[in-house]
Amino acid sequence: MAQLTSYIVGNWKMNGSAADVAVLRAIADAAAGHEGVDVGICPPATLIAAFAGAAGPVQIGAQDCHAKASGAHTGNLSAAMIREAGATYSIIGHSERRADQGETDADVNAKAEALHAAGMGAILCVGETLDERDSGNAILIVTAQLAASLPASATGDWLSVAYEPVWAIGTGRVPVSDDIAAMHAALRATLVEKLGEAGKGVRILYGGSVNAGNAAEILALADVGGALVGGASLKAESFVPIIEAAPR
Ligand code: PGA
Repeated sequence: MAQLTSYIVGNWKMNGSAADVAVLRAIADAAAGHEGVDVGICPPATLIAAFAGAAGPVQIGAQDCHAKASGAHTGNLSAAMIREAGATYSIIGHSERRADQGETDADVNAKAEALHAAGMGAILCVGETLDERDSGNAILIVTAQLAASLPASATGDWLSVAYEPVWAIGTGRVPVSDDIAAMHAALRATLVEKLGEAGKGVRILYGGSVNAGNAAEILALADVGGALVGGASLKAESFVPIIEAAPR
């Protein structure tokens, strides 16, 4: 199979305001000059509509969506709602939501189904805690998380997976390259086992303290199809070099 197009996505988490459309515009200018790399930004839901109107080639996504289409779910947003606002995909199962909102693999599976039914893409996050890494079972734990979170409707063209070790998020700590490569190979094997040939077309992103200094080495690893970037995606100066480091 031909090499998959690199995919560099910024997860703004609970950061940003309307004035930051200027940051998006700077990122969009850089993305326009770097054909051959898919670039995404997932702002807070309040900014999706404004960002979608100024995104140029940048794909705007949400950070979460509810599994149900509508109903009595105060404070939540359905896939159709974020689509109407201008998002074309959503992050689901981020470790901060798994920890803060108690989301389970079954919840994430249902959210993925909802996105697929709404004609949207999904970036499905998995990753181990430090205790799980130290136990020596990280690969078993994370591949089981993926298998349980993957919906029956999954195929390569609308799904991406993000491997984000919880202990590497926002800490400046990154696994050694051999550990990233071993995990991505195991996730690829799980995808092929569950999805057959289509599993080869799913991009597997790495996330956790990606920055301008480490991006080139990480993005060159086998089966690393891109990066999900938190802190370094909030400013064009720190995000654009990551786009530039992506293989094309
Ligand atoms: P970080 O966050 O790049 O700030 O470590 C990554 C993420 O949580 O997606």
